[in-house]
Amino acid sequence: MLYRSQAIHKVMQLATKVAALDCPVLITGESGTGKELVARRIHEASPRRSAPFLPINAAAIPDELVESQLFGHVAGAFSGARQARLGAFRSACGGTLLLDEIGDVPLHVQPKLLRAMEASEVVPVGRDTPEPIDVRFLTATSRDLHAMVEQGHFRRDLLYRINAVEIHIPPLRERPEDILLLAEAFAEKYARQMQRACPVLAPEVREVLLEHPWYGNVRELAHVMEYALLVSDSDRIRLDDLPCELNGVDRAPAELDGLNEAVARFRCNYIRKVLALTRGNRQEAARRLRISEATLFRHIERCGLKGYALPHGHKDSQIRE
Ligand SMILES: Nc1ncnc2c1ncn2[C@@H]1O[C@H](COP(=O)(O)OP(=O)(O)OP(=O)(O)O)[C@@H](O)[C@H]1O
Ligand SMILES: [Mg+2]
Repeated sequence: MLYRSQAIHKVMQLATKVAALDCPVLITGESGTGKELVARRIHEASPRRSAPFLPINAAAIPDELVESQLFGHVAGAFSGARQARLGAFRSACGGTLLLDEIGDVPLHVQPKLLRAMEASEVVPVGRDTPEPIDVRFLTATSRDLHAMVEQGHFRRDLLYRINAVEIHIPPLRERPEDILLLAEAFAEKYARQMQRACPVLAPEVREVLLEHPWYGNVRELAHVMEYALLVSDSDRIRLDDLPCELNGVDRAPAELDGLNEAVARFRCNYIRKVLALTRGNRQEAARRLRISEATLFRHIERCGLKGYALPHGHKDSQIRE
C-alpha cells in the first residue's frame, strides 16, 4: 500500500492495531480505494497470517447463489448442486474471510450471516445441523449501509454486528498528495512489465492527474497509467498519451495503438458513456448495450468504471459525471 497522505497513514495504523484483535472490521470507501489491500494488511498482521485470506465479492454472485457460496451446500441441495460445496466460511478455516460489497447480500440471507457471526457456526444449504467455523470476519462496502438500513435494504442488527470497528478509506481526490506517488509507481510497474525504461511525467500531465476527480480511485489511476505506457513511445508521458477523457481531445489514432488496445479503449469509453446515460443503472446499461449484466460487470471491473455504476440491484438514480 503506497501513500504519502496522513489520512492513509492513519488508516494503516488503525489496521495494524485492530489486526491483533479478532473482532469484525468494516472497511468503507469508494470503489478502487484499496479496501481489499487494507483487509489483506489486517490479515497479514494478525495471528491468523499463516492461514488463508479469502476475499469474496457479494456483488459478483447471483442472488440465488449467495447462500450456498457463503455457507456451502450438500450434494443435491438444489438443481445444479451435483457436488457438495464447502462455502467461503469453511474454506477460510482458521484464516480471514473478507466479504466485499456486503451491502449486496440479499435481505433473506442476512439473518444467516448474523447467526454465523454470533454463534460461529453455519448451516449449509440442504442440512439442518450447524457446522462450527473459525474465521476472522472482515467486511467491505462502497455503499452507505446506514442509509440502506433506513431504506429497509439492510438489517440494523447485522450492521451493528459488523461495524464494531470501522475503517474508512478516503477517496483519492481527497488526498491529492498520493496521486503522483501512485502514478509514478504504476508507470514504473507497467514499464517493467513492458521491459522498457520508465518514462517521466510531463508537467502538464501531472497537472491533469491532480485535477481529475478519480471516481474510480486508485484502480482508475492504474488503468490510466497502463494505457499511457501502451501509447507513449518516448521517455516522457505527454498529454496526448492519456485517455481522451483526461486530455480533453479526441486523439487521432496513434501509430502505436494496436487494434486490440484501440478496441479496448473504445469499449471502456463507450461503456462509461452508456453508464452516464443510464445514471449508473447497470441493468438498464446492460440492456442498452445488449450484453448480459454479468458481462457488463466484468467490463466495469476491467475498465475501472465502478465509480460510474450504481451498486448491483440499486434502482435509485444518482447522477455522477
Ligand atoms: N495505496 C495504494 N497503493 C498501491 N496500490 C493500491 C493502493 N490503493 C489501491 N491500490 C490498487 O488499486 C486496485 C484497487 O484496490 P482494491 O481492490 O483494494 O480496492 P477496493 O476498494 O477493494 O475496490 P472495489 O470497491 O472495487 O472492490 C488494486 O489493484 C490495488 O492493488
Ligand atoms: Mg474490493
